[in-house]
Amino acid sequence: MDSNTGPSPSEINPETYDAWFKKTVGRYADKAEKRLIAKFFRIRPGGICLDAGCGTGHFTAVLLESGESVIALDRSFDMIKYARSRHHIVDLVQGNVEALPFVADSFDTIVMFTVLEFLEEPRAALAEILRILKPSGQFVIGFLNRRSPWGILRQVADCWETFIGGTPVCTVGAEF
Ligand SMILES: C[S@@+](CC[C@H](N)C(=O)[O-])C[C@H]1O[C@@H](n2cnc3c(N)ncnc32)[C@H](O)[C@@H]1O
Repeated sequence: MDSNTGPSPSEINPETYDAWFKKTVGRYADKAEKRLIAKFFRIRPGGICLDAGCGTGHFTAVLLESGESVIALDRSFDMIKYARSRHHIVDLVQGNVEALPFVADSFDTIVMFTVLEFLEEPRAALAEILRILKPSGQFVIGFLNRRSPWGILRQVADCWETFIGGTPVCTVGAEF
């Protein structure tokens, strides 16, 4: 996808996804998500954290700096392979956030960035997260607000792709 609103998960390619973080909007997303981590992620010494839908491991690497043990999970084998080749992430698991392969009450922290909005069964994923999160655990979630300028652009791009084909030339230069 050539649009600046972000790569589409249906055609996601690890290299394309990582390269997008270097574009104007990608840099903005990177900064916003790192701000989110700094603001809401509370380090639990000795805790276990799950990066649910880790993609290329871009933010898993940031979470690892906290010193918590981090398990990164993604449905895509290509993403897992890429994350393994780029970052020193020991625990990488291929799996589905809508049916998580973990026992109940096993995580102190679960982080899920820009995944929920792309799921077929978002409620199933949230139920799974509640199941595997310890009662005192923290859940840090980031998703694209569909009413934000970015979200609206994204929907236009998706409609264009569905009904017209290809992608609109979309040059979002502003940081909103
Ligand atoms: C937009 S990317 C976000 C990746 C990463 N969280 C980030 O912020 O850079 C969405 C990721 O969710 C993964 N994904 C989509 N549906 C999934 C599912 N049902 N279970 C696990 N991962 C899923 C995709 O393979 C993709 O890597």
